[in-house]
Amino acid sequence: MAKQNKFSVLTSTTLLVIIVSISEMLCSPLEEQQLLKQHEEWMAIHGRIYKDAIEKAKRLEIFKENVKRINAFNNGKDVGYKLAVNKFTDLTNEEFRASSTGYKRPTRVLSSGDEKPFKYANFTAIPAALDWRTKKAVTPVKDQGDCGSCWAFSAVAAMEGITMIKKGKLVPLSVQELVDCDVDDNGCHGGLMDRAFKFIKSKGGLSTEANYPYQANNGTCNTAKMANPAASITGYQDVPANNEKALLQAVANQPVSVAIEGSGLNFQFYSSGVFSGSCGTSIDHAVTAVGYGKTSRGTKYWLLKNSWGTGWGESGYMRIQRDVSSKAGLCGLAMEASYPTA
Ligand SMILES: *[C@@H]1O[C@H](CO)[C@@H](O)[C@H](O)[C@H]1NC(C)=O
Ligand SMILES: *[C@@H]1O[C@H](CO)[C@@H](O)[C@H](O)[C@H]1NC(C)=O
Repeated sequence: MAKQNKFSVLTSTTLLVIIVSISEMLCSPLEEQQLLKQHEEWMAIHGRIYKDAIEKAKRLEIFKENVKRINAFNNGKDVGYKLAVNKFTDLTNEEFRASSTGYKRPTRVLSSGDEKPFKYANFTAIPAALDWRTKKAVTPVKDQGDCGSCWAFSAVAAMEGITMIKKGKLVPLSVQELVDCDVDDNGCHGGLMDRAFKFIKSKGGLSTEANYPYQANNGTCNTAKMANPAASITGYQDVPANNEKALLQAVANQPVSVAIEGSGLNFQFYSSGVFSGSCGTSIDHAVTAVGYGKTSRGTKYWLLKNSWGTGWGESGYMRIQRDVSSKAGLCGLAMEASYPTA
């Protein structure tokens, strides 16, 4: 009797192991069920409504793929940063690129800056770490929505920074004015920070966010609102290209507009830690460098303010590796940085 009991316990354990392994191999129905539930919960959190069942089924498949990738990454080797499910999880990487970036690389070389030479070239009093947020030179993180206006958010954040540093006032400025009125750029279809600075200078400044609020669309220019600037700049300068030392000199003095390849899958789902790739140097997105530092483990990083809302990254910010072996900086961040002067 006792012998037989032992035998059947062993047998059922073995059987269970076999069943579990098979179901894992087939991607267990349990996991599928959990993903289905997770998608429903995610839809509720993000207020997502699909137009029909076909669209919903398609989005669910993309969601499942992305969740599996995120989990696999997070369960893999620790590379110093983590990914997370966020509002972009039902988008393919191609869709994400199309809707949430918007830096248009100049096809011809722009006249680099309108003020020369690089004014911080001889600046040496560089603090070991700096966070412009603690100096109240950074407004809250915004969300560009389904509009390729990153360039305008980046330019505005840099201008808000220099305005605070020079005038002692932190005023949220209008992104929509750039999207609507700066016809040298393409609104929701992309643009360049240098052109935005040129536009702002030529119009004598920029209106406030309160006066000319963000709409996430390519609207028509409200000239009455445009004629009411709240802050101005004298011009802009490009940071010497492919030079993280020069970028450091600039960021030590003010928040700086930075172009970056910000469209990779790991960028899409970045959630915390010091981002270390993978990415190339096909710069297609714009953010603002608002600080730098070093982790307790000794990893040097830049602090970037993004415009994808507070649900992305570290409450809307990314820490990304600084002083990498490539001159272009990680994801090309040292290639086309610039800042307004005031
Ligand atoms: C930096 O120092 C060099 C050498 O003294 C000088 O020629 C140059 O004008 C300085 N640059 C700036 C931007 O002050
Ligand atoms: C609005 O969108 C079109 C493309 O549909 C673009 O060519 C145009 O430049 C945009 N307008 C502005 C003011 O940004």
